Amino acid sequence: GLPGRVRIYEVGPRDGLQNEQGVIPVEVKEEFVRRLLAAGLPVVEATSFVHPRWVPQLADAAELMGRLGDDGRDCPVLVPNERGLDRALELGLRHVAVFASATETFAAKNLNRTLETQLEMFAPTVERALAAGMDVRAYVSMCFGDPWEGPVAPEQVVEVGQRLLAMGATELSLGDTIGVGTAGHVTALVEAFTAAGTDVDRLALHFHDTYGQALSNVQAGLRAGVTTYDASAGGLGGCPYAQSATGNLATEDLVWLLDGLGIDHGVDLEALVATSAWMAQQLGRPSPSAVVRALAQS
Ligand code: HMG
Ligand code: MG
Repeated sequence: GLPGRVRIYEVGPRDGLQNEQGVIPVEVKEEFVRRLLAAGLPVVEATSFVHPRWVPQLADAAELMGRLGDDGRDCPVLVPNERGLDRALELGLRHVAVFASATETFAAKNLNRTLETQLEMFAPTVERALAAGMDVRAYVSMCFGDPWEGPVAPEQVVEVGQRLLAMGATELSLGDTIGVGTAGHVTALVEAFTAAGTDVDRLALHFHDTYGQALSNVQAGLRAGVTTYDASAGGLGGCPYAQSATGNLATEDLVWLLDGLGIDHGVDLEALVATSAWMAQQLGRPSPSAVVRALAQS
């Protein structure tokens, strides 16, 4: 059967806002994070401590986390390397995420590294984070297809993912960065991990909805026993270093599906929709989430 409870890992303030054209004021970001926490989201990934020239949209990371203070202490942040980790440690943060690529081309474009040297960059980062008592999530991007290399074989993803777990990463989030995956491929990928000895409880799924497959893919993940799903309030998002990466699975769409299936999640849908409707006003365009559009009008 399906799991009775799902953990929603909210990535809107990070994956959602990293791809915005304009600069969003830090006060707006702060309010966004606070409202998401207040809506009951158990995890809100807040920002990234990456190179500010690579992602200028998140150059205010330290300021945002400073403003959030104790309320943001448990919000995960992305760190690609030891420099990023140092910045997170200075602020007393407790949860970081490293982000790898399953493909050579995206490792070069997103991290300026090869498949092998990205792992050399993460190893000391993860080791020091764990030694400092932090939780470490590891992402793998391009788990289904890559805009430059085409379809990506599950074995290639398992190889990278298991090396990150062996470093000590607590959780592995499998990303469909450009949203090309379909349900059968999700099943095959999760099975490839479990066949290789990975406990399904350590896996999370991270879908972008570019081809409208995200909810169908979640359902395949649920059937395979995965209980953590990444989503972005209002369906904001995309990766600035991946051609054709558009919005993430909208958190509201995910909540609507889970409610229909009778699966617990702990999120207040009304408060979440109100937050996304407010954010759409800030950004000056309607939310791409069908559920936000339906409920914000009614
Ligand atoms: P690099 O140019 O190779 O960096 O970039 P470097 O290690 O050679 O260092 C060069 C300079 O940058 C040095 O300064 C460093 O101190 C500085 P200098 O000595 O020259 O004055 N530097 C930093 N400064 C601030 N914070 C840092 C940092 N690191 C180095 N953390 C690097 C390598 C990894 C830094 C760069 O490629 C980068 O920042 N990439 C981030 C790209 C990114 O954020 N992409 C989006 C997130 S991934 C995603 O969205 C996918 C996901 O959602 C899952 C999915 O959908 O699949 C997670
Ligand atoms: Mg993403």
